[in-house]
Amino acid sequence: MQEKLKKHKKDALQKIKKASSRVELDRIQVAFLGKKGEISEILRGMGKLSTQERPVVGRMANEVKAKIEEELEKRLEVLKKQEEQQRLQEEAIDVTLPGLPVNRGRIHPLYRMQKELEDVFRSMGFSIEDGPEVETDYYNFEALNVPANHPARDMQDTFYIEGGYLLRTQTSPVQVRTMERQSPPIRIVAPGRCYRVDELDATHSPVFHQMEGLMVDRNISMAHLKGVLELASTKIFGPDRRIRFRPSFFPFTEPSAEVDVSCFNCQGSGCRYCSNKGWLEMLGAGMVNPRVLEMSGIDSEKYTGFAFGMGLDRMAMAKYGIEDIRHLWENDMRFLHQF
Ligand code: DAH
Repeated sequence: MQEKLKKHKKDALQKIKKASSRVELDRIQVAFLGKKGEISEILRGMGKLSTQERPVVGRMANEVKAKIEEELEKRLEVLKKQEEQQRLQEEAIDVTLPGLPVNRGRIHPLYRMQKELEDVFRSMGFSIEDGPEVETDYYNFEALNVPANHPARDMQDTFYIEGGYLLRTQTSPVQVRTMERQSPPIRIVAPGRCYRVDELDATHSPVFHQMEGLMVDRNISMAHLKGVLELASTKIFGPDRRIRFRPSFFPFTEPSAEVDVSCFNCQGSGCRYCSNKGWLEMLGAGMVNPRVLEMSGIDSEKYTGFAFGMGLDRMAMAKYGIEDIRHLWENDMRFLHQF
């Protein structure tokens, strides 16, 4: 039996030394020290030994067991270290590899246009207002001096919604909402989305953007309107682009004007972008009709005001030289990355 024990010990230690994984170590442990393992086998057979032999073999078996356990433990430590080493090697980062390019987002040209304009008007003391896109007939038309059956409604083909609501065709209703809430002096701009039943083409979209402006105070005149718009144009388009006023008509202003900016492409001589006119239409404006002031509760004997509504999409197109309004909606990265 002692011979057997010696042999098992030698065997076990040799195997442990060669073991190259934790699984292998587990197997060795079971084979020698497990319930049905070699050493347990011997301990079980001790009953057959003489009383002199028993303690000697017993002690030796325990020593062998302890030795195997100790070696298993040591080998386990070594293997763990090796594994760790290997993992570190596999996970090592090659800091000399070239990095992946970071795809940075850009601000959409339309939003950029809006923010630039907001900055310009804020610098002139205007505050930024907001209004609902789903409007009532009253705010979108009636209170702006466009009663039902007024021919001016034909100019703005409207999306009507159930329950007397509509999608606003212009940002002008924000004028009314502001005047109802606030007494003069008033200086606001209101950017936002507008909707009209329109066929989508290079210059028209059923969803578009405007920025409304309103200034009401004592002694406000057309000269203030011109001054404000000329300064805004210079700040947005630079000193080389000119603007011009043309007489026009809007039910909510009297007198009314339309304002053009010289073409970004031909600078006024005429080209395909401006239909050979040399000018691009930017906004409608005028002196607020006294009826509109009165309907919103402002004394038109005491106060006068000017208003304007500019097409933000058109402004962005004119500023950045975008020839098709659909580019603003398609979100083509090749387009967006140019800004
Ligand atoms: N709301 C007009 C439109 O969409 C533009 C406009 C013209 C707004 C004159 C105004 C204004 O505030 O005074 O065609």
